[in-house]
Amino acid sequence: MSNADLAKRAAAEAAARLVENGMVVGLGSGSTVRHLVAALGRRVREEGLRMVGVPTSTETDALALTHGITLAEPDAAPIALAIDGADEVERGTLRLIKGLGGALLREKIVAEAAQRFVVIADAGKLVDRLGQHAPLPVEVVRFGHAATARRLADLGGQPVLRRVQGETVFVTDGGNVIYDCAGFAPIRDPFTLQRQLGSIAGVVETGLFLEHADRALIGSPDGTVTVLEHVR
Ligand code: 5RP
Repeated sequence: MSNADLAKRAAAEAAARLVENGMVVGLGSGSTVRHLVAALGRRVREEGLRMVGVPTSTETDALALTHGITLAEPDAAPIALAIDGADEVERGTLRLIKGLGGALLREKIVAEAAQRFVVIADAGKLVDRLGQHAPLPVEVVRFGHAATARRLADLGGQPVLRRVQGETVFVTDGGNVIYDCAGFAPIRDPFTLQRQLGSIAGVVETGLFLEHADRALIGSPDGTVTVLEHVR
């Protein structure tokens, strides 16, 4: 296992310990969440933990089922806690960029529905300013997406249509496409940017998670975890 993966696992296992009997838990997407799902599955099997997961992607849905985790739709019951990874975590503010895995829309819906949102990541995800390492993913409806991309370009986003392999365009679980926008970096005023992007017809959602995270668990390869709290 790589150092980054060991760190992701440490953060994910710490987050799995936050889950209590009877909780409905939002399950994010990505490689860090895969460790979370494995850790929760172990707790279900070995400790008899009773929990219900609300998956944010078809991938997490399938994985959780293989680990014996009971699943529900987001509207079935109030979500006590959502746990998810991130592509960037801004030091101090706990603002995030998410969506390099392509599940940002469902992830944001679940994060906003949850009473608490905890982010799990390795230290490589910490940045001083959003946009430092990751482009900003923007989910766009397929109808007229090239015209929408021109509006993103007008704002300076330098949008690039995400593809899976070769020429195949990546399509989200919601049936939309994603434009990765490296041109907004460094993102000094993310609230204004979110407002500008949200006002473009065709933009479904952005990977800016600005007032969502209550806590970040940052793992290290040696298994230690640093807890960062968002002070409101
Ligand atoms: C998916 C996401 C992921 O949480 C993000 O990409 C982090 O992924 P990983 O845990 O694999 O580093 O936002 O849409």
